[in-house]
Amino acid sequence: MNAVRRIRLFAVAGLTLAVSLCLGAGSPVKAAPAAPKLVQDDCVKCHAKPPADIASAGAGHKKITCFDCHAGHRPASQNNIPKCSQCHTGKKHYELPNCLGCHKNPHTPLNIILSGNLTEPCLSCHTQQIEQLKQFPSKHSKLFCSTCHNVHGKIPACTQCHKPHYAEQTAGDCKKCHKAHQPKNVAYGKEIPNKDCGACHKKALDLLTASQAKHKSLACVYCHQDKHKMVPACQSCHGVPHPAAMMSKFSKCGECHNIAHDLNHWSSPAKAEPAKAAPAKPTMKKKKK
Ligand code: HEC
Ligand code: HEC
Ligand code: HEC
Ligand code: HEC
Ligand code: HEC
Ligand code: HEC
Ligand code: HEC
Ligand code: HEC
Ligand code: HEC
Ligand code: HEC
Ligand code: HEC
Ligand code: HEC
Repeated sequence: MNAVRRIRLFAVAGLTLAVSLCLGAGSPVKAAPAAPKLVQDDCVKCHAKPPADIASAGAGHKKITCFDCHAGHRPASQNNIPKCSQCHTGKKHYELPNCLGCHKNPHTPLNIILSGNLTEPCLSCHTQQIEQLKQFPSKHSKLFCSTCHNVHGKIPACTQCHKPHYAEQTAGDCKKCHKAHQPKNVAYGKEIPNKDCGACHKKALDLLTASQAKHKSLACVYCHQDKHKMVPACQSCHGVPHPAAMMSKFSKCGECHNIAHDLNHWSSPAKAEPAKAAPAKPTMKKKKK
């Protein structure tokens, strides 16, 4: 090891000579007694990879030269490795420890590798998500950002970690009801098929499907709008459909109509005289329970 190092150092010590010989061959006049300076084109002669990396994926670092970062060279300059803070200052992100922990290769700075359990460093740029995770506490709030986003910018599928509620439900369906950073805050639009709700509410689905009343043709989410566990009042759609005198005797619509999923269905509707259709009357045949 020591021997190898000494040989390498020796090689560098000969660097100036090698370079001057090199240049000297083409233009003897310029090979003045003062040692010629290393130029950018020389680096690749001994270091193939950094120039190739910068050429292929140098991103913003293409705009600067090797010298901007590497001032001097061994043996004269013992440390020509720059600190990132030499150029990057003034943002919260630039105060993180261990820049090279994520920007593994300074010659390909946007080639970012996330390793370990990361949350804090992400917050130097993304603040919305942590706010949601805190405002809507769930088991996701206890995970690291990088548990789900293990490659920067990658969005994981929910089904990577969870089973769907029923077999035919796909990964794309989850976001119709859930948001990753507030998964328990279930909200949805008008396009949810009844079977999505039926996956957990089998009884409600079965009753509604078997019902003969007009509610049968309505979607669950037509009544249970927008937010999970929302329960509508009958009156919100039907207003006050019966005379006040009649209603004063019955506190709930359900006393005659049973439940929304399974409305009583009367074989000979007494449309003209709903007041007569009291529960005790024989015309009010209750459907199965
Ligand atoms: C003639 C060959 C040669 C040329 C030309 C050369 N280098 Fe080097 N360089 C070496 C060797 C050998 C080492 C290893 C020295 C050591 O390990 O102590 C090295 C090491 C380095 C290091 C690492 C230093 C460290 O502390 O780890 C950097 C950075 C570097 N060179 C940059 C450059 C740049 C930039 C150029 C062009 C301006 C360049 N080199 C040109 C041979 C060369
Ligand atoms: C933005 C600043 C920056 C630029 C530009 C840059 N480097 Fe580097 N280079 C670094 C840093 C930082 C390291 C130390 C990496 C580490 O410790 O893992 C490094 C390491 C090296 C090393 C030693 C380790 C290795 O990868 O072999 C060499 C050789 C090197 N650079 C050569 C070059 C050459 C040649 C160029 C120009 C084509 C160049 N660098 C341009 C920042 C830079
Ligand atoms: C000598 C100055 C210098 C040093 C040292 C330096 N950078 Fe840069 N860096 C730049 C410049 C200049 C840009 C381009 C900025 C721009 O385009 O606005 C840049 C851009 C970047 C970018 C964004 C690339 C892009 O295209 O968006 C990253 C990431 C980056 N640097 C990381 C680092 C890291 C990590 C280090 C330390 C290992 C480092 N830089 C050291 C000068 C430097
Ligand atoms: C936890 C991983 C991580 C660490 C540690 C890290 N970065 Fe970054 N950095 C990133 C990510 C991710 C991006 C965004 C890249 C993108 O835009 O695609 C980024 C972007 C950048 C950029 C370009 C965008 C900008 O906001 O300027 C620069 C420059 C940069 N980092 C420099 C640094 C420096 C300097 C350090 C150390 C003080 C550092 N980074 C530490 C992950 C990290
Ligand atoms: C230096 C700032 C920076 C850091 C640090 C950073 N990001 Fe980003 N991130 C960005 C930028 C810039 C984008 C691109 C935004 C865009 O395309 O709208 C991005 C994109 C993303 C995306 C994809 C967004 C989309 O809409 O597709 C995710 C997910 C993400 N980052 C997660 C993370 C995680 C997790 C961390 C921590 C490990 C992190 N980021 C660290 C700047 C950063
Ligand atoms: C349980 C997995 C999981 C965790 C933990 C997680 N995310 Fe996400 N993230 C996702 C998914 C999935 C999406 C896609 C949008 C959605 O489904 O709501 C996403 C979207 C994003 C986006 C794109 C913009 C947006 O808000 O939709 C960013 C940026 C992001 N996450 C950053 C973070 C950060 C930062 C953390 C940590 C504070 C984090 N994520 C924690 C799974 C997760
Ligand atoms: C990287 C894995 C991962 C991904 C991706 C992921 N989750 Fe989770 N999720 C978990 C873990 C771990 C738990 C906690 C499980 C436990 O403790 O039982 C959890 C819990 C949940 C919970 C219950 C929360 C609670 O507090 O009870 C819901 C709801 C949930 N996830 C929905 C989703 C949805 C929707 C997505 C996609 C947007 C998703 N998850 C993406 C890992 C993940
Ligand atoms: C129709 C809306 C809807 C869709 C679509 C949906 N979910 Fe859910 N999910 C819910 C509701 C409602 C809960 C129960 C919330 C509660 O317990 O209060 C739930 C709970 C969960 C839970 C917590 C554990 C459990 O089973 O109770 C996980 C995990 C979950 N969903 C994952 C997913 C995944 C993965 C997808 C996509 C394949 C998905 N969800 C699609 C509405 C939906
Ligand atoms: C992942 C399973 C799951 C899915 C999918 C699901 N729910 Fe629920 N739902 C539950 C749980 C668990 C409860 C709470 C039951 C309890 O408290 O007894 C509940 C309760 C309800 C309640 C009753 C609220 C109350 O105050 O009694 C309604 C209404 C409801 N869900 C409607 C729906 C609708 C509509 C859908 C489809 C958009 C749906 N649910 C999808 C699991 C689910
Ligand atoms: C979100 C709106 C909504 C809610 C809430 C609602 N309904 Fe309806 N209801 C309807 C619609 C729409 C119809 C069909 C009207 C038509 O086709 O003429 C209907 C029809 C009916 C009918 C006639 C049934 C038939 O087959 O002829 C009765 C009775 C009824 N609703 C009672 C109720 C009762 C009782 C409740 C509460 C337990 C209720 N509704 C809640 C929208 C609603
Ligand atoms: C016509 C409007 C309407 C439709 C359509 C509807 N519901 Fe309901 N749902 C209600 C009302 C109103 C209640 C409160 C109980 C009652 O008065 O009937 C309720 C109660 C519930 C409850 C809590 C009590 C229970 O029965 O467990 C759940 C869960 C539920 N509905 C799920 C569903 C599902 C799943 C669907 C679709 C298959 C659905 N609902 C379709 C109006 C409706
Ligand atoms: C005393 C029993 C009774 C009560 C209480 C009652 N209804 Fe009725 N309702 C009836 C009868 C009987 C009919 C006629 C049945 C038919 O037309 O099939 C009827 C018809 C309806 C209709 C259908 C009207 C049409 O044109 O088809 C709606 C909607 C309705 N009721 C809603 C309600 C609502 C909402 C409540 C609570 C505010 C309620 N009812 C309370 C007995 C009752």
